[in-house]
Amino acid sequence: MRLPEPLAGKRVRDIGTWDGYFALELERRGGQVHAVDLWDKEARAQFEYVLNIKGSKITASHLDVHDLSPEAIGTFDFVLCAGVLYHTRYPLRALERVRSVMNPGATLVLETVCMIPAVHGSFPSIAFFPGDQEAVSQNQHWGISGAATIPWLLAATASAGFSRSEVVYRPSFVWAKKLTALLTNQPRGGVSSCTVSREAVIRPAPTFLFRALGPNAGHHPLEAPGEPRPYRIC
Ligand SMILES: C[S@@+](CC[C@H](N)C(=O)[O-])C[C@H]1O[C@@H](n2cnc3c(N)ncnc32)[C@H](O)[C@@H]1O
Repeated sequence: MRLPEPLAGKRVRDIGTWDGYFALELERRGGQVHAVDLWDKEARAQFEYVLNIKGSKITASHLDVHDLSPEAIGTFDFVLCAGVLYHTRYPLRALERVRSVMNPGATLVLETVCMIPAVHGSFPSIAFFPGDQEAVSQNQHWGISGAATIPWLLAATASAGFSRSEVVYRPSFVWAKKLTALLTNQPRGGVSSCTVSREAVIRPAPTFLFRALGPNAGHHPLEAPGEPRPYRIC
């Protein structure tokens, strides 16, 4: 992921920081980093543990991206939102909330899953997958997956108030994952990327998404055994 360098003196936000991997990298580049996530107890402990080991000064809030506001957390010069948008129930709303905490001239690097441009890329659409199989089986019910096309990302960021967008498209070649999904009929959302800024930048990379139609042996946790899968994309 291309992150800006340097970030000295800049107020930086990492949304959906998880274990703080990118937050620490942003701090290393000089940013005053505030991290946000909806961690469960264990994930939060893991995040705190890593910060302690690194002697980090990163501050953090347990906050839903849908609830971001300048009143709640202030405003920022650089925002990273990696691997979160596709988890959100209201992705356009989430983008508006992210935009609301950005200073004029600030940049958002938005990494997200997107649909394959050559196949699905003609329409500004977003596909909704109510529960990534892997996430749901691990009781992570935030695993909702919304996979956008690049035109949707451009339209949505413009609609959310971003003035300029740059798309960085990186094809995903997670062959093992794709092949496993195909052979076992056990689909999984893959992760790819996208970037946007208040003067916006967009950096999407695609992912292969596969859902089979029809009964299957290993049924989806959200479905009754033997029920057909409700949709097919690919
Ligand atoms: C796939 S991880 C990405 C972690 C990190 N940003 C990275 O790229 O390595 C998704 C993270 O987003 C968080 N998350 C999911 N939905 C969220 C929401 N609505 N608001 C804030 N964080 C959320 C999850 O708790 C999880 O830590």
